[in-house]
Amino acid sequence: MASYDRNFTDELRTRLSIVDVVSRRVPLVKKGQNYWGCCPFHNEKTPSFSVSEEKGFYHCFGCGEHGDIISFTMKINNIDFRAAITELAAQAGLKLPEYKPKSDEQIAREESYFDIMDTACKIYTEKLFSPDGAHALEYIRRRGFSDEMIKKYRIGYAPKNNIISNKFVNTRMENVINTGLCRRGDYGLYDFFRDKLMFPIFSPRGQIVAFSGRSLDGSEPKYINTSDTELFHKRHTIFGLNFARDAIHRANRSIVVEGQIDAIQMQNNGFPETIAPLGTALTEEHIAILCKSNRNIVFCFDGDNAGQKAAVRACGIVMPFLRDNSDVKFAFVTGGKDPDEVLKTSGVDAMRKIIDSATPLVDFLWNTVNKNYLINTPNGRTQAEKFLTSQISKITDIKLRAEYENEYNSRKFNAWHKWKKKSDAPVIDVPDIDSLTRNTLTYIAIKYPELAERHAEFLASLNISLDDSAPEQNLDFTSAEKYIVSLKLNNRIKKLIQEKKSAMADIVSGAAGDMERVNQIDAEIAKCREKLETITDIV
Ligand code: UTP
Ligand code: MN
Repeated sequence: MASYDRNFTDELRTRLSIVDVVSRRVPLVKKGQNYWGCCPFHNEKTPSFSVSEEKGFYHCFGCGEHGDIISFTMKINNIDFRAAITELAAQAGLKLPEYKPKSDEQIAREESYFDIMDTACKIYTEKLFSPDGAHALEYIRRRGFSDEMIKKYRIGYAPKNNIISNKFVNTRMENVINTGLCRRGDYGLYDFFRDKLMFPIFSPRGQIVAFSGRSLDGSEPKYINTSDTELFHKRHTIFGLNFARDAIHRANRSIVVEGQIDAIQMQNNGFPETIAPLGTALTEEHIAILCKSNRNIVFCFDGDNAGQKAAVRACGIVMPFLRDNSDVKFAFVTGGKDPDEVLKTSGVDAMRKIIDSATPLVDFLWNTVNKNYLINTPNGRTQAEKFLTSQISKITDIKLRAEYENEYNSRKFNAWHKWKKKSDAPVIDVPDIDSLTRNTLTYIAIKYPELAERHAEFLASLNISLDDSAPEQNLDFTSAEKYIVSLKLNNRIKKLIQEKKSAMADIVSGAAGDMERVNQIDAEIAKCREKLETITDIV
């Protein structure tokens, strides 16, 4: 099976729900944790074929057949591995990667790269504690790194001169170049990283596949990373995963932060399940890797605009990986620029509060839509609707997708079209409106939805309904709004007059009456009349 990149088959397994894949061929019913159906691989009348969404496996208690989405697709269609992968890729909406077997030669070459990387790392760590690296050591200590942390993360210093290219003069030049540590210049090799604080990037198994170098003199870019090599594919690599893997299992969740220093500080201050994508961009591959452990993710973004944007992007990326047992949340850093700063200035408890109060994905998406679009206009609602639909359509679990649709439909009805329903607000006790007024209001509500939204409570209190019809009238938008506002003011005045009458009656009868209240009502009536005059003046 030395065919497709393991990453790709893993991605299929994490993206596609086994329940969905099997359901296409075998009707399943949920009982307890698992789904059950009649085994397609032997003849039976009572279901002994079970499918576990969580584990991604099926197992038949009758005939003993078991496997995952790939073996199921192979067996049920009687096709080979490659054909099954092709079919599943289509189901997941993924492009099939190139067929790339790893040769023995390549495996040997990679071993030599790992050796070079490890030797380089040792040189960098020695340099950090040498006079050349004094400023780098001072810097990293100032950032709150203990010597123990420096050792654990194998942090080092790349000096200004060509220390790596000089070290490897006897190694095949090609191999050193292929690690990304050195480049070819007019006078031979030169070092890629110079005068940088060096963070090794480890594979999940703990081998060094790349480095990230931070500038120490304020020069830009702040970080430079090894370019993609045979060993290192930025899209597939997660910073800190080698240290966080066990903790992610134990905590049954992962926390994703934006920066690598944030990830290290989080790991060492009570959140060992924290990792960071490399560079700034989170990818589908990163999520697929995390989902192999569990589908519970807390994204923790910086509290700035860029953080908000990144969160919306992350949300789009994570949608295909959602299942009924996943818990994805979004937290935003307050009280500091990023988790590193929060930990330093406000402490672990402040950070825990931020993580604990993270917003669930279903609410985050809803809040985003309501913030980013003009929901009180038909155009804005249409844009919002399109965005929501595009996000929901990414959910590959069919039942879950349907549930999301229901959820948002009901939220849209309640929040965007609420005025159509009878309002919960106390109904103002106003005289009934005549049929001409009713027709006019109905006409306005249908013709100008924006006004309907703006005066929703009022229209609802008068039982004006969009489902009624009204004869055409000659009212432009401005006059229509004035009509509603003056009607509102007139009703308010009538209401105040009633109130004044009952207050006066209280005074006369010697009950709890109070002259001050009467004066207040008079003042309010006067204000309403004044407003009414300015409106009718302009008409
Ligand atoms: P930030 O700009 O938020 O930096 O970038 P930071 O993590 O707070 O860095 P410090 O605390 O000042 O050291 C977030 C992440 O984006 C990547 C790095 O992985 C960084 O941790 N990045 C940033 C780059 O790859 N290149 C850059 O030039 C900047
Ligand atoms: Mn920072």
